[in-house]
Amino acid sequence: MHWGVHAYPSRYDFVSLVNRIFDTEDLAALGSDGAPSETSPRPYSDQSTSYHQMFYRAFPKLLESAYRELVRDIAPAIIGTDRLCYQAVPTLRIHMLGHVAVSEFHRDKDYNHQVGEVNFWLPLTPAWDTNTVWVESVPGRGDYRPVNLSPGQVYVFDGVNLRHGNKPNTTGATRVSFDFRCLPLDQYVDHGLRSVNAGRRMAIGDYFAVL
Ligand SMILES: [Fe+2]
Repeated sequence: MHWGVHAYPSRYDFVSLVNRIFDTEDLAALGSDGAPSETSPRPYSDQSTSYHQMFYRAFPKLLESAYRELVRDIAPAIIGTDRLCYQAVPTLRIHMLGHVAVSEFHRDKDYNHQVGEVNFWLPLTPAWDTNTVWVESVPGRGDYRPVNLSPGQVYVFDGVNLRHGNKPNTTGATRVSFDFRCLPLDQYVDHGLRSVNAGRRMAIGDYFAVL
């Protein structure tokens, strides 16, 4: 298992693809023009903006094949096996100015995720300081540090057990990222539980797909 920062090949140009979906040239400026539904002061709405709707609507046609290829390309070497399942549709995050993107510091196991899942966190904009995710170094230690990354990099971490979360973004730049989980098939269990956000069954054929 290789935790930490990895680079992925530049042919996976998710920045351009998502720029196209949002009809923008600068994802880091997203929301600064007061786009509809992004001006809401309620931070808890950050996971269901109109950009999320655009992203998930466009995913099957514009992103899915590149996404699946990326996972096939990088996950087996990082995890140490190609007998994997992975999150069929990655989760989009948009961390706008003054917002928190995800509402509280948490471990993914508090949200129906299972032991053995490996978190992949992939920014589409520069991610640093208060616009990035903060992760503790050891379960329970609470020594949160920012994950400073650039597009083209992916951060692999134990989000099931390590607490992580966001701070109000005061960097002046919006962070856009997506994240997904991979799980060795020999650790996969169908608990009959559902994902908290999308309400999908945490099972192969719904939340997970076999690599
Ligand atoms: Fe999480």
